[in-house]
This record gives sequence, C-alpha cells and structure tokens, in this order.
Amino acid sequence: MIVDLPSTSTAAIGKQLVQLRNEVGALALGRVLTLIVVVDDDAADEAVEIATEASRQHPCRIIVVISGSRRGANRIDGQIRVGGDAGASEVVIMRLFGKLAEHGQSVVTPLLLPDSPVVAWWPREAPSDLRHDPIAAMATRRVTDSAECSHPRAMLTRLAETYQPGDTDLSWTRITLWRGLLAAALDGPPYESVTAATVAGAPDSPSTDLLAAWLAWALRVPVTREDTQAGSGICAVGLERSSGSIDLARPGDLVATMTQPGQPDRRISLRRRGDAECLADELRRLDADETYADVLRKGSARLGHHEGSQPLGRGERVEARGRTRAAQPCGATSDGRRRGRLLALNRRHDHPRQGFRVHPDEAPRHPVDLSHRAHRPDHEGAAVMSEHPTNAPLVVVHPDKQGVSDAAGARLLLALLDTLCVRDDAHVVLTGGSLGSDMLASAGRSPLARLVDWSRVHLWWGDERYLPDGDPDRNETQNRAALLDHLPLDPAKIHGMAGPDRSDSAEASAAAYATELRAHGGGLFDVVLLGMGPDGHVASLFPQHPAQLVSDAIAVAVHDSPKPPPDRVSLTFECLARSRQVWLLVAGADKAPAVCRALTPGAQRWDVPAAGVRGLDATLWLVDVEAASELPS
Ligand code: 6PG
Repeated sequence: MIVDLPSTSTAAIGKQLVQLRNEVGALALGRVLTLIVVVDDDAADEAVEIATEASRQHPCRIIVVISGSRRGANRIDGQIRVGGDAGASEVVIMRLFGKLAEHGQSVVTPLLLPDSPVVAWWPREAPSDLRHDPIAAMATRRVTDSAECSHPRAMLTRLAETYQPGDTDLSWTRITLWRGLLAAALDGPPYESVTAATVAGAPDSPSTDLLAAWLAWALRVPVTREDTQAGSGICAVGLERSSGSIDLARPGDLVATMTQPGQPDRRISLRRRGDAECLADELRRLDADETYADVLRKGSARLGHHEGSQPLGRGERVEARGRTRAAQPCGATSDGRRRGRLLALNRRHDHPRQGFRVHPDEAPRHPVDLSHRAHRPDHEGAAVMSEHPTNAPLVVVHPDKQGVSDAAGARLLLALLDTLCVRDDAHVVLTGGSLGSDMLASAGRSPLARLVDWSRVHLWWGDERYLPDGDPDRNETQNRAALLDHLPLDPAKIHGMAGPDRSDSAEASAAAYATELRAHGGGLFDVVLLGMGPDGHVASLFPQHPAQLVSDAIAVAVHDSPKPPPDRVSLTFECLARSRQVWLLVAGADKAPAVCRALTPGAQRWDVPAAGVRGLDATLWLVDVEAASELPS
C-alpha cells in the first residue's frame, strides 16, 4: 500500500503510520531498527529499492530523506509504503523543500522508533565530516559508499581522517568474498610467508584500494596497487611466495580463477556483490568494524596515498612506498603475464596457532566478519598473520555429549533465524555420526524450531555412505529419523547424496552432487556442521587418505574408508571452506587426542583433517569436557 501526503508534516506522517498499522497490521514496534537513507532526488528511487530489498529479511522502518529545491517555501511531500512492495518494512519517504532541505534531522527525529538502533546510509555523496552531521549523530552505524562519490579516493582519505566507531563503507563490504577466499586459500600445504602482493583493479574502485590497504596493513609486505580499466572493479589479487606466485583473477564480474603452484586452476564463483546484499550485511551488525577502521587508517597509510600525500591519481599504480605506474587493461599485465598475484594470508606451518580460546559453557562471540587477529613479523620481517583472520577456532566446552547436542541444536536454530532475516534461503551442511543426529533431535525439541521458515532451508550433507536411499546406515536416513522427516521442509531443498540406487558409482554420485550444488549457487554455505572421528577425520576425509588431495572438485568419491562402510562420497576441503561458519561437534574421551592435535600449532590437515576446515566468518568447536581434556588449560 502507498499513501501520498503532499505538503504534509511529520506529525501527520506519524498519525498516518499509526492508522496504517492498524489497518494493514504492519509489523510496527517490533521492528529491529530504523534505517535512515539520505539521498538527493536523482538517486532516490534506486535508493528506496535497494533499502527495501536489503530490509526484506530484516524488518525495519526506512526513513528516506530527499533534499529537494532549497529555493521557495518550506515544504514536506511525504509518502508511506507498507505491506506489498515494502515487504515486512514500512517506508517513509520525505522530500524536503526550502530551508527544510538543509535540516533533515528535524523531520527524522519525530519518526524514530523508540529504543531501536538507527543505521544511516548515504547512497551517494556523504557529509564531508560525519562527526559533525546531525543525522550521523543519531546513528549507531553510518554507512557511506565511496564508490558512489565523485572522488572515491579522496573520500577514503576523508573517511580515514574522520573515522569514528560505527562508520563503515560499502566499498569495504563489497570485498568480503575476496577476503573470505584469501582467508581460505592457504588452508593446505605449503604454508609459506607472503613476500609481496599485487592488487589490480579500476582506478575508480575504492574496493580495490581497500583490498590493497587490507593486505598492506595485515601483511606488512610491499603491496602494488595496479590500475586497470575504469569500471572494471577488482580484477586480480596475487602473492609472491618462495614456492612460486599465485593468482586469483576475475577478468569479468562472475567467475574467478585461482592458480597456484602444483595445483590445477580452479574456477570459483566470485560475483560482484549487489548494493542490497551489502547493505543487508551492514544491517546485520551493529558493532563497530575494527578491521575496517584499521585498514582505512593504517592500511591506506601504508599504501602511501593517505598520509598527506596526493590521493592516488587515476590510471596510476601505487607501490607500498607510494610510487605509481601506468594503468593496464584488466586481466593483462605490462609484461604479458597474468595480472596480479593472489595474496594469501601468511601462515607458516610452525606459526603458533593463536586465537582459540576455551570457554566453558559460554556462548561464543557473535560470528565476526573477516578481520584479522593480531599479526606479527616473522623472522623474515614479513608479517605473519596469526592464523586466519577472525575465524581462528573458538572452542566452547560443555559438560557432556548431551550438552554439545543441545547447544549445537539451539545454535543452529538461531543461525537459521538470523540468516533467514537477511537472505531468502539458508544453506546448511549436515553431518553423520551420532552427534550429527543427536543435535538435530535436540533442535527438534526446542521451541525455537517452530520459528524457522523451514521451507527456505536447503540441507546438504558433508558426506554420505554410498548406500541406497533409506538404508539405516546412511547419514541422511539417520538425520531424517532424528528430525528432518518431522519438519515442513521443501523436499526439493533436501539434497541427499545419491547411493548405488541412483548412481552408477560413488564417482558419479560425487559429480552429480557437484552439479546440484552449482545449480543452487555454487556453494557458499551458511553453516557447515561436522562431527569428528577419533582419528581426526571430518566428513569422509580421513587422515592421509588420497581423497583429501582432490582440490579442484566440490565432492569426491572415497573408497577404502577406515570407518565402515568403505565406500562414501564426501565434500572436499575446498568446498567445506566455502562456508560462513564451520562448527565441529565433538564429544567423548576417545576424541581428546585428535581435538588437541587438530588445535595444536602447525597441525597439518593431511594428518588431522579436522585441522583443515575453517569458516569464512567463524570456526566453532563445540566439545564436551572429555573431548577437551587434553587441550592446554
Ligand atoms: C560419518 C560421519 C563422520 C562422523 C564422525 C564422528 O559418515 O561417519 O560423517 O564424519 O561425523 O565419525 O562420528 P560420531 O559423532 O558418531 O563420533
């Protein structure tokens, strides 16, 4: 429903909102936040569309403040949208004229929802100094978009100079997947230090600048920022390492190719993130993004275009010490070599694994985005990042196996509720083993289970025994009995791995599963659940088993499994790594040695597969006291 209110007032708008709420029954004060959008007329329609889309899974009140002509009498032309296109949100659009156009905050304040956080978003030009902007002052988080400003690099410089906790920029949000892939890229031998990095992208791409700054800050190695053709976004990231250089190149907008020594090229979906998706990400978190702050201020400085020197000129390349070079077309290099080098996170096999903490019975921190733990120079002077950023394992200890099941079940339900707030569907990878089913049974007993819109949940399996549908030894059969068959799931979204009744071989089943996963977006999971065997295996990836070595596939056939039955199908490490969160569910004294080995500095996944799985945002070990008994206190 759309209600136009020409020449109106905020009081009239407020009254109309209450009336509409009664009529339409729009979700009202149950909203989770207020999103204020500050935009000029020419960008208003698109901004409203993006904000509405971003809030679709995240009901909120959207207040759009549009500055109209400053000449003439003061006037507010209002419009209210509820229900229908506004989704679960309510949208209040106000066009301000005359002197009012300079005082947006005066019309916003009366419409703010009581006791609810405020996020402010400037889709185009943002105030020169957010610290002195009255609408910014109302907001817990302030979202700018330097890519939409007339001078992106100068904007980044300004943002760095005026940063306050709660500030963020969509150019930073747009590089989450790049950062996630880099974080996952080196999860396997050889673990070598980064010695230099290159980031290539359009001269008008602040995301490229921020990615280069992130690398310069985190790795403290020479980072070359190469300019490609304008409008091409980020093209490539690369890394020099002693065993040879690596490329992660995306010449187009959708698919990247990762090339590294001794491995076949891998094609990875890496589409350019839309504004609605990025804004939805920012609506999901209200805490300050410290990594963004560090990268903006410290990383940029290391790139030489922040510390008082001239902002990066267009079509120029900046080296770590501030030199620039001519632009190149995206995907090509001045000397014809493939552009850029993948920067991989520094990680040496002997680098002490920092970051895992044991919290008895304490809810782990909210999964954080891809930021960095502390890093420190290694003996070569290059910074060695302590493990993966942010997603260093977090270990939560529960009193017993039932506690692990109950906690995992509750977390899964909450993770689904959170995910379905911001995305149309959720993708979860289930696990076999006793805990895999126990946790589902626990989830089924929780009152939270009825709050989940199960019709939007895709279920996958990390592995499956190569047995016919319905066989009692199949993980799917056990999971169905534990819960799935009692849920209103969409059968088309239950993706079981084919057994001999539906495929000619485990190899064919693995290939078919990969096809199915690609058909549903290529596999960026929200949560991967994994049990772990006493030998440290996860899914059906066993210690020193050749199936581990398959790295250019989504799923792999496993034969001669040390755990019966001998034939299985498993997701590969590479596929398991493409998940926002990875949770390992482990209980029992027999698992204690493997838990300790998996979390010990330098653990190699070849020997302890559980050491080789990490989430892009968070890695969580839910263990009982017995399984944790060999961990250092
Ligand atoms: C399987 C499982 C396997 C399981 C572990 C732990 O197919 O066997 O996927 O990886 O998760 O062996 O099993 P428990 O939780 O029963 O110890």
